[in-house]
Amino acid sequence: MQIIRDPKELQKQCLKWRQEGLTIGLVPTMGFFHDGHLALMKRARPECDKLVVTLFVNPTQFGENEDLDKYPHDFEGDRAKAESQGTDILFAPAPDAMYHPDHATWIDVPELGQHLCGSARPGHFRGVCTVVTKLFMLTQPDLAVFGQKDWQQLAIIRRMVRDLDIPVKLIGHEIIREADGLAMSSRNAYLTEEERAAAPGIRQGLQKAADKVVSGERNPDAVKKFLKDEFSAAIPMSTVDYIEVVDPEAIVPVDEITVPVLVAVAVQVGKARLIDNLLIEV
Ligand code: PAF
Repeated sequence: MQIIRDPKELQKQCLKWRQEGLTIGLVPTMGFFHDGHLALMKRARPECDKLVVTLFVNPTQFGENEDLDKYPHDFEGDRAKAESQGTDILFAPAPDAMYHPDHATWIDVPELGQHLCGSARPGHFRGVCTVVTKLFMLTQPDLAVFGQKDWQQLAIIRRMVRDLDIPVKLIGHEIIREADGLAMSSRNAYLTEEERAAAPGIRQGLQKAADKVVSGERNPDAVKKFLKDEFSAAIPMSTVDYIEVVDPEAIVPVDEITVPVLVAVAVQVGKARLIDNLLIEV
């Protein structure tokens, strides 16, 4: 596995592969790999000749008071894990290699960013879209795999790819969970023992909310209130950032629940802001 830090070197190598007729798969990440990241690599590996994994904690998608400086990292661990999945290139640039000091070009899909993390983290998806577009331009991938834990991110990237005619196949990967249901996330590392023990309450609440919908609940406000009460009982140290019931493609709140519908939540548990979601289809 090659480690590349220079964007131009990555681009040169990927262009060479394309000229040789080889297909490229891309897994963009911010590192501190867990089984969720490895599942994305496993999904891409058999579908491409060359697998590029990117490890870049993208500063432009973090707000001022967010955890950019504290974001967990373990380069040696990540290197070994990426290699174990048959990665051909691990691209790990420094921030100033990715952004010129006078960087002035942004990609944004504001319509899909008005709710959920888009409103809770202003500017976040502009940073995501910009860096993902740069990664697409550097690697020219045939396919790219993203996790569905960041459902809104995937919906926005899908719209961007469609609108800009970017020739890449997007694959959304189901959420990978710990045995007790907690969605895997690099940010789980911030949880204390007590918080970690309570955090599976997020998934349990979502499942109970889905059961209510399946049994006929059609009022999104009732589902939101139910979840709020569930979270405060099961995770008393948490504060709710948002609980929303939205159209899974347009990412706008629904007035009345019809399926498919997405229940999406962000909950602050100690230092960790945890997101999760559940798509209800039947
Ligand atoms: O989902 C992430 O880890 C990041 O938002 C991404 C897609 C790698 C862009 O920085």
